[in-house]
Amino acid sequence: MQSTVWWQYGILYEVYPRSFQDSNGDGIGDLQGILQRLDYLAGLGIKAVWIAPFYPSPMADFGYDIADYCNIDRIFGTLADFDQLLQAIHKRGLKLILDFVPNHTSDQHPWFLESRSSPDNPKRDWYLWRDPSGGGGPPNNWLSNFGGSAWTKDGDQYYYHGFLKQQPDVNWRNADLREAMFNVLRFWLDRGVDGFRVDVMWMLIKDDQFRDNPINPASNPNGPASQRLLALYNTNRPEVHEIVAAMRAILDSYGDRLLIGEIYLPFDQLAAYYGQDLKGAQLPFNFHLIACAWSADAIAQVIKEYEAALPVGAWPNWVMGNHDQPRIATRIGRAQARVAAMLLLTLRGTPTMYYGDEIGMTDVPIPAGEVQDPAEKNEPGLGMGRDPERTPMQWDSSKLAGFTDGTPWLRLSADHAMVNVATLSGETDSMLSLYRTLIGLRNSNAALNSGDVEVVTSNGHVLRYERADEAQRFAILLNLSESKEEAPIAAGYILASTHMDRSGDAVETTLSLRPFEGVIVKRAE
Ligand code: GLC
Repeated sequence: MQSTVWWQYGILYEVYPRSFQDSNGDGIGDLQGILQRLDYLAGLGIKAVWIAPFYPSPMADFGYDIADYCNIDRIFGTLADFDQLLQAIHKRGLKLILDFVPNHTSDQHPWFLESRSSPDNPKRDWYLWRDPSGGGGPPNNWLSNFGGSAWTKDGDQYYYHGFLKQQPDVNWRNADLREAMFNVLRFWLDRGVDGFRVDVMWMLIKDDQFRDNPINPASNPNGPASQRLLALYNTNRPEVHEIVAAMRAILDSYGDRLLIGEIYLPFDQLAAYYGQDLKGAQLPFNFHLIACAWSADAIAQVIKEYEAALPVGAWPNWVMGNHDQPRIATRIGRAQARVAAMLLLTLRGTPTMYYGDEIGMTDVPIPAGEVQDPAEKNEPGLGMGRDPERTPMQWDSSKLAGFTDGTPWLRLSADHAMVNVATLSGETDSMLSLYRTLIGLRNSNAALNSGDVEVVTSNGHVLRYERADEAQRFAILLNLSESKEEAPIAAGYILASTHMDRSGDAVETTLSLRPFEGVIVKRAE
């Protein structure tokens, strides 16, 4: 039986709004721009659009530093634009997921301005203020994810920020803060949004005793500073699950809504975010395809470990890319990225795509003078910068790729005259045509969509698994190598190849796979 729950059968698609479509010539994407491209998204066959933050922000971390949770930054448009966009999304049968950033605000948020104004201010306790340590330095050794101490002195005390000092962390132990954050959810739910992707969900609450983190014995002395300690006391605290459950209860009170968590944790800890009785996040994001080595063995292992770790009844999900990670086509190359597309779209669980991956966009090297991302500016040269995967969407072969009439906020990829939606739409064997085919197959074959995943094996270069329900069985064989491979196969016919040929061909006992070829075989009845 095909799942009838939209966030189970549907595909999620992340839009990074600065880079999707500019409608007013300022070189930065906006809500009206997304509206102009909705037919493209609907035509692709995805179900839900997740838009990264578009709220008023000083943009120290490009919108992840929010100064007002209940409005739209004027770079992106207005609340009226938002309402228009939401209505247009719903009209096409799609869903809208917002980015909720409840771990920290901007230092320009009125809550923080009040909090920092005096130790006696009623909102002082909405943030994490501590006295200096005995020696006069920061209260403990916690490190910022963007380098340096996570503590900044302001007056006589320090405040904690897991990211930039312009992103003070809020205090989730304070009941008024909690309620204020929950009201943000209600504000957008009342407007009709279908769910939230919660930013750094596993970081929300910190150790109440602010204990020092232990040294990370495996850290690379030349790597990012934040990895020198194990984030034991400032992330993934047991109390976080109660907060997640409270968020979920609010969403549930509105009916059919979706709570997603951004969580970078091993499977056993990730699984806990489904919550007791599955009353936590419906989709704790699974980033393990991003983290694991690109080999048949490693991926088979990841699939098996994940399936084994899932609580009974929990729905899996897989993410191939996002605005914080190098693009898949850069990580493994364009040829292999086609195999990755087949993997993502035939695994059991909700797939999340990142804008531009469907046309094979690659990371764009950004010269030092054009760097925007604070992660790169703070720790240059360590590979922390995220600009390369955030460059403008490539829509057509015109000079500015159809993204803007102005100067794009980040440079376009040099290959945009060839690699763009318009050009690739006209090529039957392009990456985009492959994505469209695979999405179409997933959406129309219940077993690919909602069936079990079985017999996950790897034999050297070939990763193989089956998807099956009572009615149908598919075998998926992915050649992760640049050599030809032969694989035994039960009789059936080829439904799709990453090379966009031989669909309909019968297979008998063996299947020859070309270099970097993935194949979906429909088994004979
Ligand atoms: C999340 C976001 C990332 C941001 C960070 C701080 O990891 O995905 O882009 O910099 O949170 O908000």
